[in-house]
Amino acid sequence: MTWTHDFTSSPEASLAGSLRKDFYWGYATAAAQVEGAWNADGKGESIWDRFCHTPGKVHDGSTNEDAARSYDLYKEDVQLMKSYGVTAYRFSLAWSRIIPLGGADDPVNEKGVQYYNNLIDELLANGITPFVTLFHWDIPQMLEERYGGMLNQERYTPDFLRYARVCFERFGDRVKHWITYNEPGVYTLAGYAAGVHAPARSSFRERNEEGDSSTEPFIVGHTEIVTHARAAKMYREEFKPSQKGEIGITLHGNYSEPWDAEDPVHVAAAERAREFEIAWYADPIYGSGDYPQSMRDQLGDRLPTFTEEEKELVKGSSDFYGMNSYTTFFIKNLDGPTDINDHLGNVEKLDTNSKGESRGPESDTYWLRTAPWGYGKLLRWVWNRYQTPIYLTENGTTAKGETEPSEEILNDTFRIDFYRGYLSEVAKAVQDGVDIRSYFGWTFTDNWEWAAGYSDRFGVTYVDFDTPEKKRYPKRSAYFNRDFFNHLIAKA
Ligand code: NOJ
Repeated sequence: MTWTHDFTSSPEASLAGSLRKDFYWGYATAAAQVEGAWNADGKGESIWDRFCHTPGKVHDGSTNEDAARSYDLYKEDVQLMKSYGVTAYRFSLAWSRIIPLGGADDPVNEKGVQYYNNLIDELLANGITPFVTLFHWDIPQMLEERYGGMLNQERYTPDFLRYARVCFERFGDRVKHWITYNEPGVYTLAGYAAGVHAPARSSFRERNEEGDSSTEPFIVGHTEIVTHARAAKMYREEFKPSQKGEIGITLHGNYSEPWDAEDPVHVAAAERAREFEIAWYADPIYGSGDYPQSMRDQLGDRLPTFTEEEKELVKGSSDFYGMNSYTTFFIKNLDGPTDINDHLGNVEKLDTNSKGESRGPESDTYWLRTAPWGYGKLLRWVWNRYQTPIYLTENGTTAKGETEPSEEILNDTFRIDFYRGYLSEVAKAVQDGVDIRSYFGWTFTDNWEWAAGYSDRFGVTYVDFDTPEKKRYPKRSAYFNRDFFNHLIAKA
């Protein structure tokens, strides 16, 4: 079943050709969410393998042992992607597939390297440009056990750099777009503050008597920023001259809108929320070279300090701004630290339903309300503050009750509305001068949504997880996006 869409007499007609001719578009995935083959061909255990085999951690009790089986089905997947008209594909490498034990002195697993060589070659043979993420949350379990993973910056650094080096050496002749970390802030907050993601440590449980949370999330954040920068330096000095690629980082960040735009207290709170969520990573890398003052004021010495050498290294360490964003929140000020809000800048985040803004019923998840207007504001806020070319590396939505491949699910009009709204904002921002160079929808096929298991489906392709072959069914949104990009991207 395919559908076609025509924009000539639609409200989107005026957006025709607004994206640059060489705009990259496609879908993003992550190894732990799609590959399956969790222990095949010498792959080592990752912290997510450990997490999902620990009872009670994943909501539906599932594991990612098979996921969407893209490890076996990559050839079919590339053909399907091609039929969707994409020009690029963003995927991550599983560190524990390439270096099963993870460490700088541990052996490389040639079969793991071979898998990624095959995938990269298959993409290129079909005219699809690979965008490769080194770290999408699945650190080898062994590094966690040896020294506490990213909590130990000193021991972690050589291991991460060696892994990055192996990837540049083995794949860099064909991969020209590297992303060091995916959403380091979500890894940190979900894994070390809330404890709902691997490695499941929770600073909330460790609150001290003053009501402060522990320092762990901020230590891990610091490790990520500095090691991102060290990997980028290595790439720029040793590989870029011959390989001629680019390297950057992908940050998460939803938009924060003041609850009451007339009230200076809420206006300041919304800016503080953006700083805690986005500028935490982005100011050191793209801005001042240091953490935002609002974070220092509130967190004091719980926030690590960059050495002069680190500052120098970190500032300007990303060739582009990789942006993952899904929704918008209304922000109210809170007085004083309270649990998670202490990590968010002492604000209360209310989803857009709280003001009747939702176009629901698309999602039953509070953090996935459809709010394209906030996306437009976010794009301008990031551009104005950092003046760095933006790669949109993830954006998408999930729906309630998409459990069987029925006609209604495949004709996913709510997802089409989502993409129509968000992509129109991208095109308008570009028309206003924001430098945006790619868009990756999340995601290509339904997959294993971390602690939510298989129940949250973000794919433009339905996957029947009950069948051994994980049968794929294109949803209409896949064809909508194909036609919409055809309309939005300049021809000459
Ligand atoms: C961001 C993450 O990078 C990705 O792994 C996740 O599945 C999507 N958001 C949706 O939650």
